[in-house]
Amino acid sequence: MDRILIRGGNVLRGDIHISGAKNAALPLMIAALLTDETLTLTNMPRLADVSLLRKILRNHGADTTLAGKRAGANPFAGDTVRIHAGEIADTTAPYELVSRMRASFWVLGPLLARCHQARVSLPGGCAIGTRPVDFYLKALKDLGADIGVEAGYVVARAKGGLHGARIVFPKVSVGATHVALMAATLARGETLIENAAREPEVTDVAHCLVKMGAKISGIGSSTLRIQGVERLRGATHPVLADRIETGTYAMAAAMTGGDVRLTGARCDTLDAVLPVMEEAGVSITREEGGLRVRGNGVIHPVSVETQPYPGFPTDLQAQLMALMTRADGVSTIRETIFENRFMHVQELARLGADIRLNGDTALVHGVDHLTGAPVMATDLRASVSLVIAALAAEGETELNRVYHLDRGFEALEKKLAAVGADIERVSG
Ligand code: EPZ
Repeated sequence: MDRILIRGGNVLRGDIHISGAKNAALPLMIAALLTDETLTLTNMPRLADVSLLRKILRNHGADTTLAGKRAGANPFAGDTVRIHAGEIADTTAPYELVSRMRASFWVLGPLLARCHQARVSLPGGCAIGTRPVDFYLKALKDLGADIGVEAGYVVARAKGGLHGARIVFPKVSVGATHVALMAATLARGETLIENAAREPEVTDVAHCLVKMGAKISGIGSSTLRIQGVERLRGATHPVLADRIETGTYAMAAAMTGGDVRLTGARCDTLDAVLPVMEEAGVSITREEGGLRVRGNGVIHPVSVETQPYPGFPTDLQAQLMALMTRADGVSTIRETIFENRFMHVQELARLGADIRLNGDTALVHGVDHLTGAPVMATDLRASVSLVIAALAAEGETELNRVYHLDRGFEALEKKLAAVGADIERVSG
């Protein structure tokens, strides 16, 4: 199994190109199941989750192709993936595949809408929380589906197709919004989704669906109105820049007192994040086509609570905590989205961090210095928080279970090494 070795202390300077967002790329790929024409996605990130989802889509009968990069092209420029689901060969998404990536559960929406039936394995629990699927099932029932759970599979049928409905989510859910939105595009009549997720990734998918012929209004708001259409067509769509990758490298730069330009980043998707960094004493310059982050070596404590968009994202909570381990005071970080998303705390403590947990709140007492150590993490964002801490730690940190990072950060060690980090991947 690969490991990453980081020798801390180097100041990051230079440009990092931001990739397409994993959490937009995955539902965009799934949306390809809604049409028998080709969906072309550009600015696709090179990630293990994208490869796995291509495999899952092939299992349903979709052809997928990945266009290679041209010689001399920016090594971090996005890929182009074409997905053609001319016919759906199989409406079952098996446990072996869905259990490896939760988002693949979302095929339930398009399969049901297009084929009027689907059998999709329940995704099961995961490291960051129990993550139930009740909102998804209720929304699809509202749209007229008969839903049962048999032997670990959601079995959904909609004889004669789905029909429009009013769906009110009791709590904001990104995945349930994706699924309800995709299903509603092919339902008969009008659907209203209230308390919809407003995450930029949801908006990106909605814009792509409109290009495919869907009729959606209220995009970007918490109320989506969809007029069902009989069929959707092919389209070409660039994947939105990854706001979580952007925030992650911004915090890495700040952690080392560096000066880094994040090219291709979308500042408008980081309205709750950049002010927090500024409050921490980091200088942020919003530029055309990106942003520049300058740390001055002193980090001030902040008080933050994770919230659905436009609030502070749970997917940057671990990274912010890593940054605050070196603050000149006590920070308060409250996690309100997932009940078990503090798995990085114990590992950060191995590097010398002083973090005290009280239920859903972490009190982070800044320390003078961190020290390298062997660490491992249980999920993607937790892993990268350890990388941020390691960049400022004295000595060497060995990060194990690197496959978590490969799921969601394209060429992380190459991007960081290019701006001066002492970081290498060791295979085997
Ligand atoms: C998406 O997960 C993201 N995944 C997560 O990214 C992200 O952390 C999360 O949204 C929140 O922003 C992808 O986009 C692939 P939710 P999702 O449904 O859709 C509860 C990463 O590291 N809930 O918005 O699964 C749920 O338990 C990750 O890239 C129900 O109770 O999250 C949670 O408390 C991991 N019942 C809350 O809603 C349901 O039926 C929000 O979860 C559905 C959700």
